[in-house]
Amino acid sequence: MAQVTVVDHPLVQHKLTIMRDKETSTAGFRRLLREIAHLLCYEVTRDLELTNIDIETPMGPMSAPTLKGKKLVFASILRAGNGLLEGMLDLVPAARVAHVGLYRDHETLQPVEYYFKAPGGLEDRLVIVVDPMLATANSATAAIDKLKERGANNIRFLCLLAAPEGVEAFTRAHPDVPVFTAAIDSHLNEMGYIVPGLGDAGDRMYGTR
Ligand code: PRP
Ligand code: URA
Repeated sequence: MAQVTVVDHPLVQHKLTIMRDKETSTAGFRRLLREIAHLLCYEVTRDLELTNIDIETPMGPMSAPTLKGKKLVFASILRAGNGLLEGMLDLVPAARVAHVGLYRDHETLQPVEYYFKAPGGLEDRLVIVVDPMLATANSATAAIDKLKERGANNIRFLCLLAAPEGVEAFTRAHPDVPVFTAAIDSHLNEMGYIVPGLGDAGDRMYGTR
């Protein structure tokens, strides 16, 4: 069974509450998502391996730790994933980026793919897939199916909010992919929205409807 980590840091919970509030502006929502991404990035990368390199500080030589292995890949599920992506790149600017363009058909709740572009060498890299919302999990499951087809075999999924139904479906589909989220809410409504949730993440980020 996949591991599910709820990041219950007080700053994450505080910022998430402001994001949920329907009075929060588009600009505020985007800024908070980027800030929360910093804190979530810290958790999802907590156990990355280090290796030592030789450097010279102004005071003399030192063997100092640095990230081991190939550059990470952040895979953003468009559009809303880009809000988390920006914050992740603030902390790991050298990461490579994959874009997976998917939207949810409002009737069927099935993902419709419109774009895919990923760096090469996925089989040798840790791939962190980001999307603020895990509702039915159809989008995350499809994005990860595609990344696995392209060779990814070491994947983590990072979101802001999850529905219990989505967590169950996702862990069944991809039991090898650990999930990191700031909260698991009550349920999905009949339209496939997370309740109490925060509404449509893409619309709130970009001021669309
Ligand atoms: C939202 C969200 C996820 C998806 C989650 O995207 O960002 O990608 O819905 O729902 P699911 O778990 O039921 O698949 P949406 O399809 O609204 O596209 P957008 O980001 O372009 O607004
Ligand atoms: N996508 C969203 O943006 N919000 C939800 O609650 C569910 C899917």
